[in-house]
Amino acid sequence: MSKRASHFVCQNCGAAFQKWGGRCEACQGWNSLVEEAMPSAPPQSLGKNKSAGKTGALQFVHLSGSEPPAPRRLTGIAELDRVAGGGFVPGAVILIGGDPGIGKSTLLLQTVCRLAAQDRCVYISGEEGVDQIRMRAQRLGTAQAACDLANAAAVRDIIGALDQPQAPAIAVIDSIQTMYVDVIDSAPGTVAQVRASAQELIRVAKKRNITLLLVGHVTKEGTLAGPRVLEHMVDTVLYLEGERGHHFRILRAVKNRFGPTDEIGVFEMTARGLIEVPNPSALFLADRREDVSGAAVFAGLEGTRPVLMEIQALAAPAPPGTPRRAVVGWDSARLAMVLAVLEARAGVKIGLNDIYLNVAGGLKITEPAADLAVAAALLSSLSGVPVPPECVVFGEIGLAGEIRPVSQPELRLKEAAKLGFTRAILPHDPRLRTMPESGIKPVIIHNLAELIPLFQAEESAPRPIAARNY
Ligand code: TYD
Ligand code: MG
Repeated sequence: MSKRASHFVCQNCGAAFQKWGGRCEACQGWNSLVEEAMPSAPPQSLGKNKSAGKTGALQFVHLSGSEPPAPRRLTGIAELDRVAGGGFVPGAVILIGGDPGIGKSTLLLQTVCRLAAQDRCVYISGEEGVDQIRMRAQRLGTAQAACDLANAAAVRDIIGALDQPQAPAIAVIDSIQTMYVDVIDSAPGTVAQVRASAQELIRVAKKRNITLLLVGHVTKEGTLAGPRVLEHMVDTVLYLEGERGHHFRILRAVKNRFGPTDEIGVFEMTARGLIEVPNPSALFLADRREDVSGAAVFAGLEGTRPVLMEIQALAAPAPPGTPRRAVVGWDSARLAMVLAVLEARAGVKIGLNDIYLNVAGGLKITEPAADLAVAAALLSSLSGVPVPPECVVFGEIGLAGEIRPVSQPELRLKEAAKLGFTRAILPHDPRLRTMPESGIKPVIIHNLAELIPLFQAEESAPRPIAARNY
């Protein structure tokens, strides 16, 4: 009997190699090559396809035509509905990634229990038994929901149950890494299995108009386990993030064919599951101490929503050698840039210190608008002068030290006013002249050097920041 041919597939990027190696030459990842059986039949040449050459196989339509907008199913969990782009679209495939134990199964069980009131929902788990899911539903107070459960991992059985005229409207697969297709030899969780299982499930979801929610595990490097190709195959990719030890959970859309990708939903993990946080700014600032140096409140924007968060910095004297840089919740390359601009353009001697930067509450900031708040927190830590407690900060720093306007300043100021802030350190922005009165006194900064006098310790008393008009 001839031996089936095999090859070595990188579990991170999906590249295939003839020989095993310690490092994937495509993505440079270490120890990611796993032996997998080759597909038994090579795909038929498209040139020999029976339909080739026939005219009329492809029907073009005019660009100017219109389709009725896809109907949406609202879960009633407003934070989730907004991140999904206004509810779930029938036939859409949504991948939900996140670290183990972060709350993916909890969120999806809560979601299907809500949706079960209007549509047929099934929850298929390859990880937990039916009893375990029932216990969780009891804990969540949704044990009476009309949701169907199954414990299964064989894609053939799942397809058999879903590919019916009476198909459910919503199906959860928890998780895609536990599913297997029996015609492939590799173990569940390998690239070949994840790809084939997802392909089959997606095909049925499209055919039967099922909203398919796939759970995906995240590797320790922070990407979804299995091939990147999984992210390309689905319509929407959502990540559930949060720091261990913190009770906030952030649901973030990183890809969405049916809505914007910069939205976040904020939840709090409680003894009765995930609860929506309609006003995240208040939650993120709840533990703030107002009289300490090295902290600045950044007025940020997450999607369409303004969110205030505290940026904490510590500049500590470093022992000889390369100083440490530790960043949580922000981009370390961006920190390096802010430090370089402070040093080169504003003459602040900070580069030889150890620098620690932290976004309180476990949030991750991606906006360059946070530059000025980071600079303020750093200067405050260095000088020991606190940023005034009633003051928010935002603005982008350019390499010449100039402070640039950022998007939607009026929304940021409105949110700050709502939370009782009365001042803002911000860039010059002509749009603000026409803005309705927000009750916030602006302190306009054109250049990074103008920030420094605000943090000069004079007679050990903090200098009040003078407000200026636009
Ligand atoms: P889970 O949804 O199982 O995480 P995932 O599917 O992402 O691996 O969440 C498990 C964690 O959530 C676990 O540590 C317990 C906690 N939890 C609560 O705090 N409250 C609850 O009501 C539930 C159901 C779980
Ligand atoms: Mg789970």
